Amino acid sequence: MSSNLPSTLFHCLVFISIILLYLYSSLLSPPSSKPPPPPPPSLATDKKVSSNSTPCNLFKGKWILQNPNSQRPLYDETCPFHRNAWNCFKNQRAHMGIINARQWVPEQCVMNRIDPERFLGLMRNKNIGFIGDSLNENYIVSFLCVLRTADDGARKWKTKRAWRGGYFPKYNVTVAYHRAVLLARYRWQPKQSEDGDQDGLKGIYRVDVDIPAVEWTNVTDFYDVLVFNTGHWWGYDKFPKEKPLVFYREGKPINPPLEMSDGFKVVLENMVSYIQKEVPSKTLKFWRLQSPRHFYGGEWNRNGSCLLDKPLEEDQLDLWFDPSNNGVNKEARQLNRVIQEALQGTDIEVLDLTHLSEFRADAHPAVWLGKKDAVAIWGQDCMHWCLPGVPDTWVDILSERIRNRLETR
Ligand SMILES: *[C@@H]1O[C@H](CO)[C@@H](O)[C@H](O)[C@H]1NC(C)=O
Ligand SMILES: *[C@@H]1O[C@H](CO)[C@@H](O)[C@H](O)[C@H]1NC(C)=O
Ligand SMILES: *[C@@H]1O[C@H](CO)[C@@H](O)[C@H](O)[C@H]1NC(C)=O
Repeated sequence: MSSNLPSTLFHCLVFISIILLYLYSSLLSPPSSKPPPPPPPSLATDKKVSSNSTPCNLFKGKWILQNPNSQRPLYDETCPFHRNAWNCFKNQRAHMGIINARQWVPEQCVMNRIDPERFLGLMRNKNIGFIGDSLNENYIVSFLCVLRTADDGARKWKTKRAWRGGYFPKYNVTVAYHRAVLLARYRWQPKQSEDGDQDGLKGIYRVDVDIPAVEWTNVTDFYDVLVFNTGHWWGYDKFPKEKPLVFYREGKPINPPLEMSDGFKVVLENMVSYIQKEVPSKTLKFWRLQSPRHFYGGEWNRNGSCLLDKPLEEDQLDLWFDPSNNGVNKEARQLNRVIQEALQGTDIEVLDLTHLSEFRADAHPAVWLGKKDAVAIWGQDCMHWCLPGVPDTWVDILSERIRNRLETR
């Protein structure tokens, strides 16, 4: 037996080597079928991992409750960029400590919080523009307050077309928001005789599907990074049937008239193709997906409430948000599908902020709006977010993606 051992061992080794060689060569040889598709642009690659390893998905993960003393927001109620209704410390919203002690932890990778000095250093002489509705405004207020911690000289910046913004003189960086809630141009037209005698019609909102809103026409050259969104205004609560959206193309009404959801699709297609044609290819372009609402027990104008003191559990999300359950907040995922389709094959990177935000039923201003009658008039705000709060995580993600894109190109 003993004299046989070395030879057995030898045979074993030869066998193992052959197996390894086979495995190795099959790894190197081109795959027999089509090459695997490149990862979709929404998948981030962690810088610390080499570029050909598994990409890291920043949008899939969990909220982990940390110690409120170690996980603190970067700014407080004194930030001059605040909007009163979202300034939850000032409005003495309950649970602000706990709301901000929850940290988003992606599944397969480390995501650091933004380092404002380092980020502004990277952005020196560059500008960032947000274009869209108030959820992008909510986003930029967080961004401005975070960045200001690295530049005391930060000041408000405004032009005719920019709704609000900030300038950071130490780094010569401008970050601004252009309000364009439908992205396309739209305007009120009082009822005209040719509109006929339609029940209760007061007039129409004419939407030119092929013309961007003036608020962002010809401003895109100024920015090195652009973040788009639209979605919340595409509803019958904003545009009821006495004041409907009517879609125009090349200056003429589209015939037959489009329903709102088809109009949304056509506007997206046109705005995306405008961006692809007109915005320089070196500009980093992002599209942030819908921010979910958390109305419980009714719509915003039907006493809907979000007085929840902790995030939803993962297994509650479909119940709240899957369109097949027909809940109050179903539209976010519906709109996302249309948006993702319109963005396919473009160089616009998707920021899928929806899923991580779906958990955070606990983090809206709710009844703490800073004005006595606000809730009686407007209902609770279960749509925008407290600041500091969840949008600070959106900022961490965006800054990480910008850094990654600038450093790897
Ligand atoms: C500031 O940045 C702009 C580009 O946004 C550039 O044109 C300008 O020269 C810069 N100013 C200084 C003083 O560097
Ligand atoms: C945008 O620029 C073009 C070309 O310079 C000009 O013809 C057009 O009037 C501008 N549009 C707006 C809304 O300023
Ligand atoms: C909302 O609540 C108020 C006060 O409880 C009540 O008077 C009102 O009828 C409710 N509205 C709806 C639409 O349920």
